[in-house]
Amino acid sequence: MAPPLLALRDIRLTFGGTPIFEGAEFAVVPGDRLCLVGRNGSGKSTLLRIAAGQIEADSGERFLQPGTTVRYLPQEPDVGGFATTLDFVRAGLGPADDAYRAQYLLEQLGLTGAEDPASLSGGEARRCALAQVLAPMPDIVLLDEPTNHLDLPAIEWLEAELASLNSAIVLISHDRRFLSNLSRRTLWIADGRTRLLDSGFADFEAWRDAGKTTLINLLTGTLPPDSGAVRLGTNLAMVTLDQRREGLDPNRSLAETLTDGSGDMVSVGEEWRHVIGYMKDFLFTPEQARTPVSRLSGGERGRLMLARALARPSNLLVLDEPTNDLDLETLDLLQEMLADYAGTVLLVSHDRDFLDRVVTSTLAWHGPGQWIEYAGGYSDMMIQRGGDLDRKALAKAPRAKSAEKPVERKPAARKALSFKDKHALQTLPGRMQKLQAAIAASQARMADPQLYARDPATFGKTADELHRAEAELAAAEEQWLELEMRREEMERGRSD
Ligand SMILES: Nc1ncnc2c1ncn2[C@@H]1O[C@H](COP(=O)(O)OP(=O)(O)O)[C@@H](O)[C@H]1O
Ligand SMILES: [Mg+2]
Repeated sequence: MAPPLLALRDIRLTFGGTPIFEGAEFAVVPGDRLCLVGRNGSGKSTLLRIAAGQIEADSGERFLQPGTTVRYLPQEPDVGGFATTLDFVRAGLGPADDAYRAQYLLEQLGLTGAEDPASLSGGEARRCALAQVLAPMPDIVLLDEPTNHLDLPAIEWLEAELASLNSAIVLISHDRRFLSNLSRRTLWIADGRTRLLDSGFADFEAWRDAGKTTLINLLTGTLPPDSGAVRLGTNLAMVTLDQRREGLDPNRSLAETLTDGSGDMVSVGEEWRHVIGYMKDFLFTPEQARTPVSRLSGGERGRLMLARALARPSNLLVLDEPTNDLDLETLDLLQEMLADYAGTVLLVSHDRDFLDRVVTSTLAWHGPGQWIEYAGGYSDMMIQRGGDLDRKALAKAPRAKSAEKPVERKPAARKALSFKDKHALQTLPGRMQKLQAAIAASQARMADPQLYARDPATFGKTADELHRAEAELAAAEEQWLELEMRREEMERGRSD
């Protein structure tokens, strides 16, 4: 890959006590088409401002290849301070730039160049600012919501104009079509960190949905793995509650949904309950018994799904984003129900507080194909993995599992450990630690944005070393996990 024109590394930033970034990074290469995505307030605009050099992070590095020209379109552009729009756009040109392009772009964007910038509407101001950013054909353009306030013809014009530029483009937009058409790489900002997907926004959602829903489908046997094995226990009675709240008949009443139209009684696990009493457990009033599902609110539907799922006899409950659109009361209720639930709960959630209150073990995504299990809830996971290199956590809790090779539960009878196995079990953690240190060192060396330009041979050699160490570490982890499972198995056998 070409050396970066612009790179941000280990960016940390706190606004009034709230951490916005805890180690964010990205690099822009020539001709890049990178989009930044994340929820509202996740820090997209802030990261772009840091990239533009408009604000400084508390710590971290910003590297700009000398001589690189950068233009930045803020989310709220300010076009004041000039007599005409043409003056404003021309002010952005360098001495070697084509002055005619300023006028051309203004006209393409529906302005004459003679307008008074102070009297522009929001949409006109953005078009004027866009002309200023694009006129000099910079090496890098950073665009924060460029399509806001633009009409469809203007959006299509902009899309075509950007597609034809040689400049590297970094883009934030709510316009999914625009993002899909233009981007080739996607940077996801979440929880103060950045993760890079090496393809455009069109692939982003499938990739983010972070693998989780796919993992659940693998664990529950709905989806066969590409390789590796999933072993489901015997006598498994699984109930799945999915995030889309499908499977409710809108014409049925609340009571009918719970009793399956068979009278006033609900079969709850092993016992029979009166439907009104059971409804009350889920915060419904007796009057709601005859209410059709179609008239229930989103939160009430969530509660009904929950009531129905928990009535079925099960020992494994699978919940995929159960807290989406639940009100606080229902959240508390769900938490209580799960605490009382005798079986195993498999929960996928973005709700950190809920995770902390409910779960006893966390499987976290650490990059494509990498899931790591931590004891405890979300906060415990964050503590265990530290603000540090994710892989370091393995030294303390080596439980690496890759999504292609999901958890092989309850393996068949295993051989006793030989002397050699016991020796390996003792020495592998030390070996893994050494490999982790070597990986960290190679990564640190390669993170120097100038290394490639200065010394391509060392860059290549370091990359090879890194790959070798990563492969060795993966093999060592695999072996350790296998031996450790056998050891646990033997110990369990002895104490049974
Ligand atoms: N100058 C500032 N002072 C304090 N808080 C800020 C400032 N700028 C942004 N924030 C906060 O930082 C967070 C990220 O904001 P922003 O980068 O605008 O998010 P996004 O563009 O992803 O919606 C938000 O919680 C926002 O309120
Ligand atoms: Mg923003």
